[in-house]
Amino acid sequence: MRMRFGLATILLAACGGSKPDPGLQQSIGSRVYVTCCQSCHEVPGTGPRLTRTVLASRLTAARLYTYNQQQMPYNAGGVLSDEDYLNVTAWLLRRANLLTPNTTLSLRNMETILLIPPAEGAFSTAPGP
Ligand code: HEC
Repeated sequence: MRMRFGLATILLAACGGSKPDPGLQQSIGSRVYVTCCQSCHEVPGTGPRLTRTVLASRLTAARLYTYNQQQMPYNAGGVLSDEDYLNVTAWLLRRANLLTPNTTLSLRNMETILLIPPAEGAFSTAPGP
């Protein structure tokens, strides 16, 4: 076997199979958002606006993913595939500039992606969750 096939096999094993590129993840995520989230999360929906500050209050991408997966759509958590929860979470973070354009969000890296909140009094003094 030639060298590069061996390397590809090792990479696939290490990375848990196929992983969409960031652009593909973003385009799928935006479609999930429009179909499943937007009606409540844009004016005049019943849900809060998903601003940078609101998203950053979850502190890590992993916590935001878990919240979305368990709680959203409201009263219907878990209806999407894990893959689509990843895609839509990545898209929300990218839209808020909390994820770099060349990052694909995955179950492996989400713990390490910290959501840095905006500085300068963007938070109220009320204690967070
Ligand atoms: C039927 C309306 C509805 C739909 C559809 C919906 N949401 Fe929500 N969402 C809500 C409401 C209402 C809240 C506030 C829940 C609370 O305060 O307990 C919320 C809260 C959130 C929050 C937390 C905001 C905060 O203040 O911390 C996130 C993140 C979120 N939704 C993401 C999503 C995503 C992603 C989808 C699509 C997969 C989605 N929502 C679909 C109604 C909805």
